[in-house]
Amino acid sequence: MQAWQIKDSWGLENLELTEIPERPPGPGEVQVAFQSASLNYRDLLVVKGHYNPKFPRPLIPCSDGFGRIVAVGQGVPQDLLNLSAITLFCPPWQGGSPRAETLRHTLGGPLPGVLQEYRNFRPEELLILPEPSALTPAEWATLPCAGVTAWNCLMEDAKLKAGQTVLLIGTGGVSLFGLQIARMAGAKVFLLSSSNEKRVRALDMGAEAVEDYREVPEWSRWVLEKTGGLGVDVVLETGGAGTLGQSLKSVKVGGHISLLGVLSGSKESINILPLVMKAVTVRGVVVGNKQHSQALHDAYLQNMVRPVVHETYSWNHVPEAFRALSSGHQFGKITIEFPDRDLKTQESGE
Ligand SMILES: NC(=O)c1ccc[n+]([C@@H]2O[C@H](COP(=O)([O-])OP(=O)(O)OC[C@H]3O[C@@H](n4cnc5c(N)ncnc54)[C@H](OP(=O)(O)O)[C@@H]3O)[C@@H](O)[C@H]2O)c1
Repeated sequence: MQAWQIKDSWGLENLELTEIPERPPGPGEVQVAFQSASLNYRDLLVVKGHYNPKFPRPLIPCSDGFGRIVAVGQGVPQDLLNLSAITLFCPPWQGGSPRAETLRHTLGGPLPGVLQEYRNFRPEELLILPEPSALTPAEWATLPCAGVTAWNCLMEDAKLKAGQTVLLIGTGGVSLFGLQIARMAGAKVFLLSSSNEKRVRALDMGAEAVEDYREVPEWSRWVLEKTGGLGVDVVLETGGAGTLGQSLKSVKVGGHISLLGVLSGSKESINILPLVMKAVTVRGVVVGNKQHSQALHDAYLQNMVRPVVHETYSWNHVPEAFRALSSGHQFGKITIEFPDRDLKTQESGE
């Protein structure tokens, strides 16, 4: 089977389409034939060797995939055959709080990721989808990292309620999921974007007001003006160290900042006084567990909302897809379509 791999050296230029052996599912495993994958900013950092250069190589990148179970190993019920599933970013994290030993096992580094035609999992390591036709394969493939992260931040961590206010920074994958989830919850969204076209699209998707973070670097003043001087209840902090200072000024007394991204860097000197004086909760978030994934799935089905897919690249054009992600021009997720092959289901070895 084919797989995209980083072998000897990190770097997008070293991402290679390779032939690797296909392994039948072992006892207790199912084999998923992937149909779609989506790219995250993390995957780009991993491929470039900027995320963790100690990850083992050869490495198959990417955490987010959708596919069909085409074979089951010994001891696995036959009725799982032909069901569709999405991956979990951190397969052993099934529920509860994150633990160090669990967070070490994430797809697309250090564990082999989804840019391979087939991959074996234990059934509990997947979210099995009862209604796969509700979304397209590409739409399903966007959920595991960006979608679950936005859900975890807003609904589990900040416990967002109707009528509350949310600030989103940029229009990347996480922010657009944040916009959709916040609107489902009945919250008001203020959104920052450097692109006029994207700001218009965010308004179309239900944002209350939008502003340009490049033209207005002191955007906390805009947030305060829009919220009657109070600030927002929740900030989805995708920007990182370069935007945290403004976020602290933008959040209300007793408000919540979900700290998850590093788009503007991870090291900067920050005035922490507003954090203390406003009794703000700042909480780091690392994607989410299987229960968050299930809750996100249920919310998208119930509200009949579709994730935003910007563009889909074919299997042979994965490096171009990464370059497009790197450009930052996208509005929504970039996905990969797997080769159209005959996904025949196999008999189990029982
Ligand atoms: N902790 C976690 O669990 C977790 C999970 C997922 C993602 N993340 C992190 O969260 C961040 C966002 O991820 P993503 O997948 O949404 O990324 P993405 O899709 O690549 O987002 C890119 C967008 O972010 C905005 N942006 C870029 N640089 C910016 C800056 N300096 N200041 C403000 N906005 C900026 C731009 O929006 P405009 O074009 O609209 O200006 C850009 O289009 C990344 O750092 C990623 O690593 C963390």
